[in-house]
Amino acid sequence: MNHIVAKEFLSPNVVQLEIESPLIAAKRRAGHFVIIKIGVEGERIPLTIAKADTKKGTITLIVQKVGLTSHKVAALNVGDEVTDVVGPLGNPTHIEKLGTVLCAGGGVGIAPLLPIAEAFHNAGNRVISVLAAKNKELLILENEMRKHSDETIIMTDDGSYGNKGLITAGMEEVFKSQPVDLCVTIGPAIMMKYASLVAKKYNIPSMASLNAIMVDGTGMCGACRVSVGGKIKFVCVDGPEFDAYQVDFDELLMRLGGYRKEEAEDYKNELAG
Ligand SMILES: Cc1cc2nc3c(=O)[nH]c(=O)nc-3n(C[C@H](O)[C@H](O)[C@H](O)COP(=O)(O)OP(=O)(O)OC[C@H]3O[C@@H](n4cnc5c(N)ncnc54)[C@H](O)[C@@H]3O)c2cc1C
Ligand code: FES
Repeated sequence: MNHIVAKEFLSPNVVQLEIESPLIAAKRRAGHFVIIKIGVEGERIPLTIAKADTKKGTITLIVQKVGLTSHKVAALNVGDEVTDVVGPLGNPTHIEKLGTVLCAGGGVGIAPLLPIAEAFHNAGNRVISVLAAKNKELLILENEMRKHSDETIIMTDDGSYGNKGLITAGMEEVFKSQPVDLCVTIGPAIMMKYASLVAKKYNIPSMASLNAIMVDGTGMCGACRVSVGGKIKFVCVDGPEFDAYQVDFDELLMRLGGYRKEEAEDYKNELAG
């Protein structure tokens, strides 16, 4: 079970793994994620189901190497087994025909954005994608996103590809030139904070998929607690998508950084053997 059938590096730090998981593949919808574990004693991490192939019975996960577990995932090879894969988890994205949907993806956030762009496009919406990365080498899934977009704008921080500038500059270009009915933003929490502020400036409804730290994925442990519209929500069972205007991004950023020292130490110890 859960054997890896294909592996490809999309950038030096981002790996795409196709894993056999027929039951999850059959049930998955845009917006769903899984929690995986590497090794019996391993830590659980949430990852979006970027693609699913019901005929082959596989799901595709795209993983950015940031710490201990994501490095362990990236080190797996074709034929290896992912110890546990639980899902599909979370609420699927609410898809309807709205008109024009702007999909703003930053870094590895483009992976969870892909199935959402695909689903909005298949529902008959005009999809405009604004994709951002630090530089050309770190931009992932450009061709796949173009397949499901009517217009694609690329932004790089250093100008090595597309337009030079942050994602918010690309979004603003779109908002100034045409009506947009919904903005979907996925990326680092700091990016989503500023992307939602730009959408708010132009009065465009905005949805963000939150990347809180998770443990059980069932609403029991409280690890993924966020404040939305002044109320406590759990990303795993109430999300992962929320009205971006209502999210307390500053609190999310603080909670994401809460274990940074311990995470860095764990990773250092593992490297030291
Ligand atoms: C619903 C959901 C879907 C996700 N989908 C994907 C995906 O498709 N691909 C992907 O690469 N990642 C995804 N993530 C983020 C992924 O779960 C984290 O990158 C992973 O848990 C980090 O584990 P680690 O042990 O490698 O790093 P850690 O040692 O736990 O952390 C290393 C560094 O990464 C930061 N970090 C830890 N967790 C997160 C997080 N959740 N978001 C942002 N930064 C974090 C830490 O603050 C630290 O600086 C998703 C998160 C959620 C909640
Ligand atoms: S991960 Fe435990 S409550 Fe959401």
